[in-house]
Amino acid sequence: MIEENGLEGVVAAHTVLSEVDGAEGRLVIRGHTLDEIAQHWRFEDVVALLFKGFFDTLPGNAAALRTALGRARREAFERLQPNDDSVLRRLPPIEAVRALLARLPDGDDLQTALRLVAAPAVYTAAVMRWRLGVQALAPDETLPHAVDMLRMLHGRTPTAAQGAALDTYLVTVCDHGLNASTFAARVVASTGAGLASAVLAGISALKGPLHGGAPGPVLDALDAIGTAANARHWLEGAVASGQRLMGFGHRIYRVRDPRADALKGALQRLSAEGSVNAARFELAEAAEQAALAILREKKPDRALETNVEFYTALLLEALGFGRESFTCVFAAGRVSGWVAHAREQVHKGRLIRPQSVYVGPAPEEAGETALAH
Ligand code: ACO
Repeated sequence: MIEENGLEGVVAAHTVLSEVDGAEGRLVIRGHTLDEIAQHWRFEDVVALLFKGFFDTLPGNAAALRTALGRARREAFERLQPNDDSVLRRLPPIEAVRALLARLPDGDDLQTALRLVAAPAVYTAAVMRWRLGVQALAPDETLPHAVDMLRMLHGRTPTAAQGAALDTYLVTVCDHGLNASTFAARVVASTGAGLASAVLAGISALKGPLHGGAPGPVLDALDAIGTAANARHWLEGAVASGQRLMGFGHRIYRVRDPRADALKGALQRLSAEGSVNAARFELAEAAEQAALAILREKKPDRALETNVEFYTALLLEALGFGRESFTCVFAAGRVSGWVAHAREQVHKGRLIRPQSVYVGPAPEEAGETALAH
């Protein structure tokens, strides 16, 4: 049955946006390799790349787009209301950010799109500050997006290496073929609902641990493992009890997820300036090696390798994000892909409406309903 297979192997869209080669471990974003993008590009550059051709009014140069995205951060911030902190600090951050995003108006124009791309960064920083009992900070429109996100979170300007590391993260996760959240966004966009609706569908799909919710649990596992010497014992116990090891395995990749190395590289560059806890990094590397060995032994029929979430956890922890906010930070990057896919779907696609096969009882077999009088 196709649904038991999770639609594996089904082609549901033609896209110019990204190609995921699961056999070779290669990710191409609109003609550029992940390696190139992860090392040299800012988030604004990737937004320009993904949006090209989908908006008539897209600024033609990076400086103008940076200004427009800064203005969009301000617009998103201005929608916060005085009592938001007391209500939203009690929700899991991903639910609080989703609630705030739901206030943004629908539309299909560039301003709507940029506001949606800007908003997860603004709202994640605000929500995380509210949880600490401090006020949200207004954006600084003049700063690059990643730098401003860290400033809004911590209340101080990050180092150049920290800003670059967050840029690497955001661009590394900007788009990735027809993953669950992007597919959800495209389905909603195909109805003509508008970009905000598509983004809400995307963030809802991202929340689950099988998609974007894994990096927090990666750190929980590292905490429980405690020491490199305990890694094998702990991880073996987890697999024996039927748990999935968070940060490993992928529907498409049968080799190492190239994004894991892009993020490990960013982590190494950050460690050069002392912003990474060296003992934590060593523990993570030991746990990764032990996990890969165990998965090879216990699940020999399935190639299970390190995925993007493993080093996401380490990198975002080093940048001072609380683990409960990791999925929100993922959304702050992936939202650029959701919006581009939504526009592509509207430009080229029809309403997405597959069929199902009815396997329930025939009317003559159904019997009385539970609610029969
Ligand atoms: N640990 C242990 N076993 C695993 C793992 C894992 N991380 N991943 C897959 N398996 C096992 C499954 O238990 C299953 O074995 P079984 O049939 O004996 O129960 C088999 O491998 C199925 O493998 P796949 O078909 O490759 O898995 P699927 O495509 O259904 O799921 C997924 C992919 C959800 C990512 C899975 O590997 C997983 O749960 N990983 C852990 C969570 C995680 O890291 N999520 C983030 C993914 S990256 C992203 O979405 C951004």
